Amino acid sequence: MGKCPIVLDRTGQDVHAEGERIRAQGPVTLVEVPGGFHAWSITNYEIAKSVLVDPRFAKNAREHWPAFINGEVPPDWELITWVVMDNMNTHDGADHDRLRKLVSHAFTTRQVEKARPMIEKIVARLLDDIAATPAGEPVDVKSRYFYPLAATVICDLFGVPESARAGVLQGSVVNSKTTNSAEQAEANLHQWQSAMTDLVETKRREPGDDLTTTLISAREEGDTPLTDEETVGTLHLMFGAGTETVSNVLAHAVLDLLTHPDQLELVRTGRYGWDAVFQETVRKEGAVAQLPFRYATEDVEIGGVTVAKGDLVLIGYSAIGRDPELHGETAGEFDITRADKTNLGFGYGPHRCLGMPLATLQAAIALPALFERFPDLRMAVDVGELEPQGTFIMNGHREVPVLVSAAPVAAVPVPAA
Ligand code: HEM
Repeated sequence: MGKCPIVLDRTGQDVHAEGERIRAQGPVTLVEVPGGFHAWSITNYEIAKSVLVDPRFAKNAREHWPAFINGEVPPDWELITWVVMDNMNTHDGADHDRLRKLVSHAFTTRQVEKARPMIEKIVARLLDDIAATPAGEPVDVKSRYFYPLAATVICDLFGVPESARAGVLQGSVVNSKTTNSAEQAEANLHQWQSAMTDLVETKRREPGDDLTTTLISAREEGDTPLTDEETVGTLHLMFGAGTETVSNVLAHAVLDLLTHPDQLELVRTGRYGWDAVFQETVRKEGAVAQLPFRYATEDVEIGGVTVAKGDLVLIGYSAIGRDPELHGETAGEFDITRADKTNLGFGYGPHRCLGMPLATLQAAIALPALFERFPDLRMAVDVGELEPQGTFIMNGHREVPVLVSAAPVAAVPVPAA
């Protein structure tokens, strides 16, 4: 590997500025992640696209990351869950297909459409709760709207009992933080493993018409049933991938619309649809700033460098959406009228996002509902005051506070009759 890698800011202060710094060094650039490990970060659209379908870039650390195989990766490494999770996103080839197939049938566009009434109901309930907020009190659209929406949808689909929800969701929230100490990372690993194991045991005792039961009882002809680790790992992936991502992208959409009134007007007047808002947000922001990890299974020449066998690769999805080779000088601007919104925000190739239809449907329902219910919606703070989420993996803010009602008008004294 080369020298002087860019040390990724584990507090994720500005993932876009960091993405541009990385891109300025080349389309495939060496960076350092916590633990002192080096990885190649890809910020170029065409190169990323080719890597994402190239079997020489594998996802299984157990087979392809020498440091992990040789026991050089400590069990309390901050990013350990990204490596040891046993699910479709850490497997390749036939194993990947086997793990993906078990849930993929439930996430097709046609199947997901059946969840529309359920999503509309959740949205209506959350908006009622928000409407009850005293005038002038800020509402964080992430924790009060988008996160609970995405979390309720995924928990309902997997039949998670109400009492177990906080536990199964907690692991994924902590997982994407890159400011975790070693102790926190290790404690988190144990927390999510035990929450998922409890869920599996509950469903074994009381099977239901839900996806957790499907995973447990899966006996596809000719396939090996899931191991306990695979069941737990799959659940963890689904709760993580299905919540943080939706919450961050939709909160970004609100932020971008409220700070670009001309764009909001285009949607309000029906000249552009909400789909254009969603696509443009996915392109400009992406939910994932740096996706860990792929491993080179042999030496590969890409983007003017040699990625050596066993090297780590990160996909810089947020930077890829702003690739100037694809979107020119305005790549960093929010413009729903942009004719070409091409992006890899949902991934590409065998590991492309399984939840895209579900995320798209949630966006199509939740975004217009919010703006219709609260026509005076506006930011409660200046954009400069927003704090980053504290991770280089995801792209989001800790909170996105808005005001939902018009400023209270001073009461006009009613003249005595
Ligand atoms: C706007 C929302 C979302 C965005 C931007 C997003 C983005 C992504 C990206 C970039 C990948 C590729 C990861 C890779 O390269 O290895 C991915 C994979 C995945 N996503 Fe999403 N995602 C979103 C919502 C969801 C939802 C709602 C679900 C749950 C149903 C979900 C489930 C998954 C799964 C299971 C994978 C792994 C697929 C595999 O490895 O075969 N995602 N997502």
